[in-house]
Amino acid sequence: MNGKFMATPLTQNITPDREPLDIKQYQQVGGYQALRKALREMSPQEVQQTVKDSKLRGRGGAGFPTGMKWSFIPMGDDAPHPKYLIANADEMEPGTFKDRLLMEGDPHQLLEAMIVSSYATQADVAYIFLRDEYKLAAHRLKQAAQEAREQGLLGKHILGSGFSLEFHIHTSAGRYICGEETALVTSLEGKRAIPRQKPPYPQTCGLWGKPTVVNNVETLCNVPHIINHGAEWYQNLSRSEDGGTKIYGTSGRVKRPGAWELPMGTPIREILEEYAGGMQEGYTFRGLLPGGASTDFLVEEHLETPMDFDAVMKVGSRMGTGGMIILDDKTCPVAMVLNLERFFAQESCGWCTPCRDGLPWVAHILQAIEEGRGQMEDLEILEMHTQFLGPGKTFCMHAPGAMEPLQSALKYFREDFEQHIREQHCPWRS
Ligand code: NAI
Repeated sequence: MNGKFMATPLTQNITPDREPLDIKQYQQVGGYQALRKALREMSPQEVQQTVKDSKLRGRGGAGFPTGMKWSFIPMGDDAPHPKYLIANADEMEPGTFKDRLLMEGDPHQLLEAMIVSSYATQADVAYIFLRDEYKLAAHRLKQAAQEAREQGLLGKHILGSGFSLEFHIHTSAGRYICGEETALVTSLEGKRAIPRQKPPYPQTCGLWGKPTVVNNVETLCNVPHIINHGAEWYQNLSRSEDGGTKIYGTSGRVKRPGAWELPMGTPIREILEEYAGGMQEGYTFRGLLPGGASTDFLVEEHLETPMDFDAVMKVGSRMGTGGMIILDDKTCPVAMVLNLERFFAQESCGWCTPCRDGLPWVAHILQAIEEGRGQMEDLEILEMHTQFLGPGKTFCMHAPGAMEPLQSALKYFREDFEQHIREQHCPWRS
């Protein structure tokens, strides 16, 4: 996974197609040092402060500052217990596969990260909420947890300290909405996976009403390195304001689709051309979704943008998960957006009416346009839906996320939509 940039703390132990390090090998390369340091030399508050100072932001897509999230957890003698820490490993965002690589490639790194983070928030119980299809990750994490238990690194009185942690792996029943943290919590409680109203945020009222931190896998994997090397070291890995490195991914007609750990803020063009090798012969770049399907398209004029949360926001999209999906000139943009909207319609939890009924209607209109049965008024109806299903109109961010590729496709590829309608067929079909 590593490119020419060598400071790759998260992926340094990962060699594709090779078994991950077992606990002995992981400790030989410095594994569980951060846990020893945290438990023996640092208070939970000091661990929290170090993570806050590092400027680590959530890698699940939203980019919320991790240290700040932890600081909302009630601490002290009168804090409610049990408290929970959940690794959100329900990675279902289209075009996103970074967490799978981390879990399959270095399961002890995630375990250590979860134990240190649980110590920082004084969690009593930790869960990995894992996408059901990630069978290999589940197998390797179970094995790693067993090894950690045998060595006194998990369970009661970890490393002889006063800190104990119960640990469970929970495999998801397989819905995209389970990745939304409140739906995840509801699902873990054994109920139908629907989001809850926020606030209250899970940090104060989460799993079974108790304080709960939900962090993405990649976010957590940064924690041991921050504890080992310090906040300043971590910040300096970055090329932008946000600290650290980021695992960027590419899929589509590039020469080398894949994932690379690079400094946060690496420009999009550099990732596409130097790491993904540019477009395949015979294909021309038309646009990309920077961070999974629920982000706005960017086009040629945006390629110099640094891939970080604020810079991508400034040019009208979101970095999201950093898993870029590339659109080429031989793929119909209407068909691409139709495919995405069908996915979002299918994955709506059905709780609120705009999302449950609006998304299938959007997919229906797109299908008519794509099949050459569309009218020019349909474009206005689609525009209206990007408002009806936009932020603040639905119970959670599922439908607003689904509207991002649509609204930006209508902006950047409008002529393609109009051509389908004018010519009454898809120009990409013979
Ligand atoms: P959000 O912005 O509501 O929350 C992000 C995190 O910050 C949450 O943990 C939340 O508890 C915390 N937070 C936000 N405001 C807070 C406040 N005022 N006080 C305390 N905590 C606060 O975003 P959401 O809905 O959790 O996530 C949306 C993102 O998820 C999108 O960017 C999307 O790209 C991404 N996503 C990722 C998927 C994946 O497979 N990795 C799948 C689906 C969506």
